[in-house]
Amino acid sequence: MAVALDLRDEILELKRARKAVILAHNYQTGDIQDVADYVGDSLGLAYHAKATDAEVIVFCGVHFMAETAKIVNPKKIVILPDKDAGCSLEQACPADQLEAYLHQHADKNYYVIAYINCSAGVKALCDVICTSGNAVKIVNLAPKDRPVLFVPDANLGSWVMEQTGRKMDLWQGSCYVHVEFTRDSINRIKAEYPDALVVAHPECTQAVRLLADEVCSTERMVDFCKKTEVKNIIVVTESGMLHRLKRECPDKNLIPGPTDRCACADCRYMKMNTMEKLRNCLRDLSPRVEMDEEIRRRAETPLLRMLEQSK
Ligand code: 13P
Ligand code: SF4
Repeated sequence: MAVALDLRDEILELKRARKAVILAHNYQTGDIQDVADYVGDSLGLAYHAKATDAEVIVFCGVHFMAETAKIVNPKKIVILPDKDAGCSLEQACPADQLEAYLHQHADKNYYVIAYINCSAGVKALCDVICTSGNAVKIVNLAPKDRPVLFVPDANLGSWVMEQTGRKMDLWQGSCYVHVEFTRDSINRIKAEYPDALVVAHPECTQAVRLLADEVCSTERMVDFCKKTEVKNIIVVTESGMLHRLKRECPDKNLIPGPTDRCACADCRYMKMNTMEKLRNCLRDLSPRVEMDEEIRRRAETPLLRMLEQSK
């Protein structure tokens, strides 16, 4: 999409004036990715948020990602273009429900692993966080003498069980975008490109994952597409990924994975951010991520544990 040059320039000028850094997730629109200082997956973004010395962090992603940046940067201003950019996984596991569940099953003494796609309140209740990029490693490091409860994504959880052989109890949440891909929709596109490789995100259902040549986080998709000699690659994840991949792998034919309804899948939350809202949030230093200090402190421990364990 062509963007008026002055809006892009305005953003870059405001960024300089505010001494800000712009972090963007791989699912953001192309114009936002192109003004960002760093574009990556949840893991790379968490490391960058922790390492930055910028005074203001502008987080172009969804709310839980900006919240993660605030958890490790309590003194910094963290802003996001649209504070209503949520996530169906976060919504599937409200902190009070998890707390009640843990209370009810206190005899189990669960080791709780939370996928980063959850609220600060949920992070505060768990032992360690993981992302799709390090979930296998984090689960392998879980104490062997305690049962594991994995929240909130049942699809990612079952993929990690397949990879590690570790049995876990799974919270039954899902990503409303990734469950839209079906065995039929992926088989149809495979029939059109019989020589294509399929790369899929682990938030997809098992039926879809079984059709993939590689299942991995969005950042690893970039490595996979760069390394393979095969030209046609079907990318089974949110549509924003295609912009990043086309930039990094210009020699590849990158084909969006279709759903039964659409030629590609958009996350309505990720797409709430626009260049106008990005300009406005830098101009107004609002909306800001704020949180209760006690929750922040409790959420920081499992987050730092993750960063340490996945080095
Ligand atoms: P990644 O960490 O793989 O980028 O995934 C984040 C996400 O929200 C997937 O839907
Ligand atoms: Fe959440 Fe799914 Fe959107 Fe990722 S794609 S932010 S998991 S709703």
